[in-house]
Amino acid sequence: MKAKNISGQAPGGQRKKLAEVLPLNTPFVVQIFPLYACTFKCNYCIFSIDPSKRGFISDKVVMDLNLYKKCIDDMTKFPEKIKTLRLVGIGEPLFHPDVVEMVRYAVEKKVASTVEVLTNASLLTPQMSDNLIAAGLTRLVVSTQGTTKQKYHDACDVDIDFDKFIDNLKYFYNKKGNVQMYIKIIDCALDGKEDEEKFFKIFGDICDTIAVEHTLPIHSGIDYTDVMRGKDMFLTQFGLPVSEVEICPQPFFTMQINPDGKVVPCYSFEYPGIMGDCNNQSVNDIWNGKVFQKFRRDMLSGTKNICESCAKCNIIKYRMFPEDNLNDDAARLKKCYESKI
Ligand SMILES: C[S@@+](CC[C@H](N)C(=O)[O-])C[C@H]1O[C@@H](n2cnc3c(N)ncnc32)[C@H](O)[C@@H]1O
Ligand code: SF4
Ligand code: SF4
Repeated sequence: MKAKNISGQAPGGQRKKLAEVLPLNTPFVVQIFPLYACTFKCNYCIFSIDPSKRGFISDKVVMDLNLYKKCIDDMTKFPEKIKTLRLVGIGEPLFHPDVVEMVRYAVEKKVASTVEVLTNASLLTPQMSDNLIAAGLTRLVVSTQGTTKQKYHDACDVDIDFDKFIDNLKYFYNKKGNVQMYIKIIDCALDGKEDEEKFFKIFGDICDTIAVEHTLPIHSGIDYTDVMRGKDMFLTQFGLPVSEVEICPQPFFTMQINPDGKVVPCYSFEYPGIMGDCNNQSVNDIWNGKVFQKFRRDMLSGTKNICESCAKCNIIKYRMFPEDNLNDDAARLKKCYESKI
C-alpha cells in the first residue's frame, strides 16, 4: 500500500496546545456548508432521519454564490491566513452547482493555507476532478461507506456503480499533482478485519493518506444499537479514549457558516446559538464580535453552565484532543475574553 495509514491520529497532523495560542484573531478552521442536501442517506448520519426530526439547521438549502464570495472577501481582512477552509456539508458539497467556482475563488483570494473539500465522491466525475484540480484545491477528503456496491445499498440507501466509483477516484489520484488526497472509511461500514484489509487493498494505492475512523453516536433521533453493533462506543472519532469535556474548545478555534449565512460556533447540529449573520455582518466582525466573545467567556465556566444545547451536547467528547483541554487556563482566559465584551 502506497498511502500512509493515519488511523488513530489527528488527520490535520500534530496539534499545538490550544491554551497557549488563545485568543485567536483569526480562526484556525472555517467550515462552510454550501448546501443542506445529500446524494446518500448513510445510516449513521443525520440524513437517515426525517427532516422534521433534525431540528433547525438552515433557512436556505443552497448557499448563494454571491454570499459565498462576500464571505471570502471578508476573510481577506483577517490579520492572518486561516489554516483550513473546509467546504463540507450538512450534505454533499459537490452537489452544489458552483462548488468549483467556490474553490477557485477561495484559492485566488489566498484566504487559507489549505482549501479542502470533504465529499462522498459520488459526483467526482473525471470532469469534476479536472475542474477541482484546475481551481487550485489543496486537499480532497473522501468518505467511503463500504467495500462493495451491496454495502452502499444497505448502509446508504443508494445504488452506485462501484467499479466506476473506484475508477473516478483513480482518475483524480492520477491527475491530482500536488493536491493531497485522504480516503477514510467509517468503522460501522466495515464487516470485520478481513473487510478492513479489503478496504486498504482497494483504496490504499489511490490516495496519500488513509484511515479508519470511529462512528460517533451523536445524532439524537438515530438508533445506533444496530449501526454500532460490535464497535467500541468509548473511542473518539480518531481513536482516543472518550472522557467528559468540561470546556468545549470548538468556539475558540473554529466557526461554521451555514447555507443561509448564519454563523454557528461548532459542528453540533443542535446549535447553542447564532453568532452572527454573514448577510449583514462581516465574517471577521462576527469572529471578533461581542456575541462570539461572550459565548467564549461563558464557555470558560463550563459546558454545563452556558446553555441547554451545550449542557446536553455529546458531540465534543467524541471529537476532543488532549491538546485542546482548556481547564488549567480557564481563569486567565476568562479575564482575557471578558475584556473583549
Ligand atoms: C456529514 S459528512 C459531509 C460531507 C460528505 N457528505 C461526506 O460524507 O464526506 C462529513 C463527515 O462526517 C462524518 N460523519 C457523519 N456522521 C457521523 C457520525 N455519526 N460519526 C462519525 N462520523 C460521522 C462522515 O463520515 C463524513 O466523513
Ligand atoms: S454522504 Fe456525508 S452527508 Fe451524506 S449521508 Fe453520508 S455522511 Fe451524511
Ligand atoms: S458543547 Fe457542543 S453545542 Fe456547545 S459549543 Fe461545544 S460542540 Fe457546540
